[in-house]
This record gives sequence, structure tokens and C-alpha cells, in this order.
Amino acid sequence: MNDDRSDPSEYIHGSSPEEQHRLSLLNDILNESCLKELQLRPGEKVLDFGCGLGQFTRLIARTVGGKGQVVGIERDRDQIAQAKRLADGTGEPELVTFRIGDALDPPLTGAEWGTFDMAHARFLLEHLPRPELAIAQMVRAVRPGGRVFVIDDDHGDFRPWPEPEGFQALWQAYVRSYEMMGNDPYVGRRLVSLLREAGLTAIRNGGVFFGGCAGNERFQAIADNLIGALAGAREAMLAGGLLDEGSIQTGLEGLRQWKADPSAALWYSACFAEGTAPE
Ligand SMILES: C[S@@+](CC[C@H](N)C(=O)[O-])C[C@H]1O[C@@H](n2cnc3c(N)ncnc32)[C@H](O)[C@@H]1O
Repeated sequence: MNDDRSDPSEYIHGSSPEEQHRLSLLNDILNESCLKELQLRPGEKVLDFGCGLGQFTRLIARTVGGKGQVVGIERDRDQIAQAKRLADGTGEPELVTFRIGDALDPPLTGAEWGTFDMAHARFLLEHLPRPELAIAQMVRAVRPGGRVFVIDDDHGDFRPWPEPEGFQALWQAYVRSYEMMGNDPYVGRRLVSLLREAGLTAIRNGGVFFGGCAGNERFQAIADNLIGALAGAREAMLAGGLLDEGSIQTGLEGLRQWKADPSAALWYSACFAEGTAPE
């Protein structure tokens, strides 16, 4: 099959228990600062593409309140099963409607298309060879005047200091593993142009700080998320011949030592952009 919506994307991180733990850490670190940027209003109807474990999706749903409505779409069965378990665990089984499905062919009913106030995707586009196809579905899903909000990584903007031993080689291999899968590790810088090419207007952009330094409350979680992401891509890096096992372990050990350094700092921001659908 090779129609316009086809996209044989692979998700580099997978959905093992370790990876789900890392994704939860990421949510703990970023959710409050991301929420501020969404500027949600009570009663809004929101669609979350690639919702993962649904923690942020539930925060969105709590924010729009009982008069709002939130649907989360996720392709991986293990992720969506865990999203439902977590929602049950907080006594919120009905808060979000979680649906299994592909962002490129979203499982919406005919009556739902063109009705959402916002379509949102966080850290999804970097895993798609053709992010514009997901954005086209987001645009289709929102009402006239509705908003499309995307937030994603730009791996060119990542600066840990003092530089951990073996970090450059490990980071370059990690970035290359995205490219080997046909994905764009630098998609963050393209967000505005992707929204403009999709016909959206009133575009704004910004960054959500995703760094920290030793001594800060969240630094250990930031460092663990980084180590987890790189360790989780080990198979992809080895399979692609991008780095040998010894260099991967040197890089990971360098990061563990860096994490314990009282001067350690990570300078990094996730990129976001929002656009409005024509009235
Ligand atoms: C890095 S996680 C982010 C999850 C969530 N948005 C968050 O910020 O916590 C990316 C998620 O996108 C999902 N995903 C990847 N490709 C997808 C696709 N084509 N359609 C739907 N979900 C997809 C993955 O399974 C994974 O759960």
C-alpha cells in the first residue's frame, strides 16, 4: 500500500516497562509548563494525537473541565492499555476517551471531523517520516477557527555541560538512528513552516525549557530521562552499525557521572508552534 496516507513509521523508543517509566518521568517534568502554553479555555473539545500514556491528556481534560471533551489517540496497544490503567488508578476512567489508532488515519466518527477546538500533538512528529500528513489530519479535525498545537524536539539544540565523556559520539549515533528510520530529528525548527504549509494562520511559536542543573529539584529526573532515551535506542544504534557496544556504554557511563557532578547543567528547550484554521 502506498497511498497518500501511508507512513511505515517505527517508534524508536517502543513501549517496554522501562520506556513507559521514562515517558512518565518526562510527563512529570514537562506537563505543567506545557499546559501553560496551550492556553486552554473551560469547555473546549481537544484531540490529542500520539497521546502515549495519557498523563498529559488527562491534565488537558481536567483543565477544560466537565463541559469540555478530550479524545486521546495512540497507535501502540501497550501504551493505550497503560493509559487506561493509569486513568483507572486515579479514579478518572471516563475523563478522556482513549482510542487505539494511527495519527495518519485517526479513528474519528464522521460527525466528529471539523468539530474540535484544538488538535494537539507532543513529541509525535519527530517519529513520523512525513509529519505533514499528521498535521493535515489535525487541521481536518478542528473546527473553523480551531487551533492546532504541536510541540516537538530539535536535537540540534542539546547542550549538556561539562560535556560528559563519550557524549558526542553517543548523541550523534542517537540522532542518526532517527534519520535511519526516515524521521527528522530536527523537526522542531520546522514547526512553523509545517503549520503554514497546512494553511494555518495566526501562527505563534516558543520554547518549553526541558533542561535544568544540579541542585534543582527536577535535575535527577531530567538526567534519568536523557539516559533512558539513549539507552532505549541501543538496539537501533547497534542494528544500524552507528556505534559499537563499548562506545554506547562509555557514553552512558559518562552521563551517569555527569548526573552526579555538582556543576552539571543541561541547556535544552522543546519547540512549539500553534496555528489557527481558517474561519
Ligand atoms: C514520545 S511519545 C509521547 C507521548 C505523549 N504525547 C506525551 O507527550 O507524553 C510518542 C507516542 O506517539 C506514539 N505514536 C508513534 N507513531 C504514532 C502514530 N503514527 N499514530 C499514533 N501514535 C503514534 C507512540 O506509540 C508513543 O506513545
